[in-house]
Amino acid sequence: MQHRTLGTTGPRVSALGLGCMGMSALYGDADRAESIATIHAALDAGITLLDTGDFYGMGHNELLINEALRTAPAAAREQALTSVKFGALRTVEGGFTGYDGRPNAVKNFAAYSLQRLGTDHIDIYRIARIDPDVPVEETIGAIAELVQAGHVKHIGLSEVNAETVRRAAAVAPIADLQIEYSLLSRGIEQDILPACRELGIGVTAYGVLSRGLISGHWSRDRKLAANDFRGMSPRFSGENLRHNLDLVDALRAVAEAKGAGVAQTAIAWVLSRGEDIVPLVGARRRDRLTEALGALDVKLEEADLAAIERAVPAGAAAGERYPAEQMAHLDSEQG
Ligand SMILES: NC(=O)c1ccc[n+]([C@@H]2O[C@H](COP(=O)([O-])OP(=O)(O)OC[C@H]3O[C@@H](n4cnc5c(N)ncnc54)[C@H](OP(=O)(O)O)[C@@H]3O)[C@@H](O)[C@H]2O)c1
Repeated sequence: MQHRTLGTTGPRVSALGLGCMGMSALYGDADRAESIATIHAALDAGITLLDTGDFYGMGHNELLINEALRTAPAAAREQALTSVKFGALRTVEGGFTGYDGRPNAVKNFAAYSLQRLGTDHIDIYRIARIDPDVPVEETIGAIAELVQAGHVKHIGLSEVNAETVRRAAAVAPIADLQIEYSLLSRGIEQDILPACRELGIGVTAYGVLSRGLISGHWSRDRKLAANDFRGMSPRFSGENLRHNLDLVDALRAVAEAKGAGVAQTAIAWVLSRGEDIVPLVGARRRDRLTEALGALDVKLEEADLAAIERAVPAGAAAGERYPAEQMAHLDSEQG
């Protein structure tokens, strides 16, 4: 396994992290036994970073990770680092009603996460979306107190803009910013990534396959369950989907010439953007994980990168990356 360090103050982690969200929520139903087998296979392959959120299935995802770690070989368990998001407020029906970043709420969320994960500390802790009613300094200050008490090792950020990155970094050391970054979502390149680099903050990139859209496995005919986020995603609907799958066809031609898979080429492209970037792959089955791991062996030369750029130029995606009401919660898309 290759490794990368998250920023100047963060931990050294495997070059690919495993995002566990789809094992509990947002992409329709998942198979529990296969999810745990996938986490075990990831640990076995040397993946050390497991990403979750306390709101992924309202605690389900943390309990799943707890079970996977408890039943993994001790050596793998000891290597594993947890990256946990908090702050989302949910309804019984599964809706999202806002975010809570008040200091007391931060400590309350952490207490529940530690219990569900069955650990005495969280390795990286971050609010999923900024609470517009609480200055980011207060939220980060509360996580810094958890660091001082030993309950959290490192502070992360999620989906914030360059100004918020700077404000947060003025309060305490920040290990990484977690944010969507892929061939289809290149918004961070202008201001956010340069700010992270200036401040020595790493990036954990999510949605590197655009939630499966650019994996090479998506088709226009795929039927989505009612509880699958992708059914509401602008990029997966109607004419946008047609356009985006044409981009995938162009990417497939480049991948085939390289002897690699489409998903592998898309992940390798994110890996090629800098040593400070760690893609989180959202595999929830062992075969998908194996495919994703193959990206580590895909070496993209200048000519390959140019061909990829021609196939999927910056800004080529049709449709926003979230529905409008969720875009409004993205600090990273404001200012
Ligand atoms: N900070 C944030 O706001 C935020 C937001 C979203 C996610 N995240 C984190 O980032 C992680 C990854 O995000 P994501 O799930 O959207 O990422 P992704 O890797 O772009 O998409 C994952 C989906 O792509 C499909 N896929 C097809 N081939 C694959 C392959 N070889 N490897 C992996 N997936 C393949 C799978 O869907 P099927 O199984 O349906 O085929 C899988 O569920 C999440 O698990 C979560 O931890 C963070």
